[in-house]
Amino acid sequence: MSRVAVFGAGYVGLVTGACLADLGHDVVVRDVVTERIERLRAGEVPIFEPGLDELLGRNAERLIYTLDVAEAVQDADFLYVAVGTPPTYSGDADLSAVWTVVDELSGLEGRAVMVMKSTVPVGTGARVRHRLDERGLEHVGYASNPEFTAEGTAVRDFQHPDRIVVGSFDDADGDAVEALHEGIDGPVVRCDVASAEMIKLAANAALMTRISFINEIANVCEATGADVVRVAEGVGLDRRIGPSFLRAGIGYGGSCFPKDSLALKQLAANSGYHFQLLNAVIEVNELQKRRVIGKLQQHLGSLRGKKVALLGVAFKPNTDDTREAPSLVLAGRLVAEGAHVRAWDPIAKIDDLPGVEQVETTEAALAGADAVVLVTEWPELADVDWAQARGAAGSAQPVFVDGRNMLDPDRMRESGWVYESIGRPSA
Ligand SMILES: NC(=O)c1ccc[n+]([C@@H]2O[C@H](COP(=O)([O-])OP(=O)(O)OC[C@H]3O[C@@H](n4cnc5c(N)ncnc54)[C@H](O)[C@@H]3O)[C@@H](O)[C@H]2O)c1
Repeated sequence: MSRVAVFGAGYVGLVTGACLADLGHDVVVRDVVTERIERLRAGEVPIFEPGLDELLGRNAERLIYTLDVAEAVQDADFLYVAVGTPPTYSGDADLSAVWTVVDELSGLEGRAVMVMKSTVPVGTGARVRHRLDERGLEHVGYASNPEFTAEGTAVRDFQHPDRIVVGSFDDADGDAVEALHEGIDGPVVRCDVASAEMIKLAANAALMTRISFINEIANVCEATGADVVRVAEGVGLDRRIGPSFLRAGIGYGGSCFPKDSLALKQLAANSGYHFQLLNAVIEVNELQKRRVIGKLQQHLGSLRGKKVALLGVAFKPNTDDTREAPSLVLAGRLVAEGAHVRAWDPIAKIDDLPGVEQVETTEAALAGADAVVLVTEWPELADVDWAQARGAAGSAQPVFVDGRNMLDPDRMRESGWVYESIGRPSA
């Protein structure tokens, strides 16, 4: 069994640490946020991720949490980097946390392998390798082992991966990372570091492309009277295409897709290549979020003074993550139009958005509302009695925009809502 240091106690770092501990490895998780480490030491999980709580608890004797780099790296065989790589103003990935980890390393005597889990531009591994060498850490290996887990299903995704990608400069380092995953079944893709970095960016770009593709099909469906749900079903049954990521909606958000698409676009541009398709994917996604405003205006006219309930704040169900969530863009646009916005989410919080009130229950969000926008398809929303909820709404003709095509159009209209969705025929 190995000893693993994990830098970053966020969504990826904690899931990685918990799953590696579950395989029997000793794991030290290091973060720079004191409160985060203290909560973890007290047995609390600072993020919401299904199954993580139980996994950390079950493996508590193999997990240590620290603020101290020396404690983390002592006797470590692997140095997992799972720090954030947010976008900068230029769209490039901000790698400052990665460089801090590299520069803080000290006291490494044995042959530890640094393993990059954070999503980084192609070429980062080569630059990190160079910096390690400059710092006299030639004996520290390097591998890229990008993360493909999705928030909400991250534990299951880690334990049952579609594939494990390992890129390394030295085969022995790649072998070691592969061996660390013993006990997890899944195809292993071995390659060079640059290709591993590109696999992650390309996989995300492919998923985003499918989302923007089906959203554009949805928009054409709206203009022509077709139903995108049936269209996606019919298209997705083609074995060459498949059904995943063909659900039309108000666009993608989250901590990965928006930033990774910008980073790939910038990476291409910095290398002298104009990535036309990706530019279109990003633009379609931006416009898609805003189409909701048009649907509301079509029925309500000016939104000034109108009460709008936003159902769902998290960027998707089963997470408390609101980074780049469509709800934030929508709330901002609605407030700019003069609407009063009340937001509900079972877990996520909409912090610091002027003009937006967050309430605890769907009833409180719907009370007196002129319009409702379903933003996140939380399972709870399927159980709401929408006929009863209609009675609590404010206007005689309350408008309901189902941004995820979650609800049944006929039943919603029978319940008295002016129901609109994405890519399905209007009433
Ligand atoms: N969130 C996901 O589902 C997901 C999936 C695939 C890939 N990724 C990538 O993984 C990386 C991490 O994402 P995340 O969502 O876990 O981020 P996060 O913001 O949840 O966590 C990052 C953590 O790193 C800590 N940190 C910063 N500097 C540090 C340092 N010097 N030493 C130790 N810890 C430090 C932060 O305090 C924070 O707790 C990003 O590159 C992201 O793109 C994320």
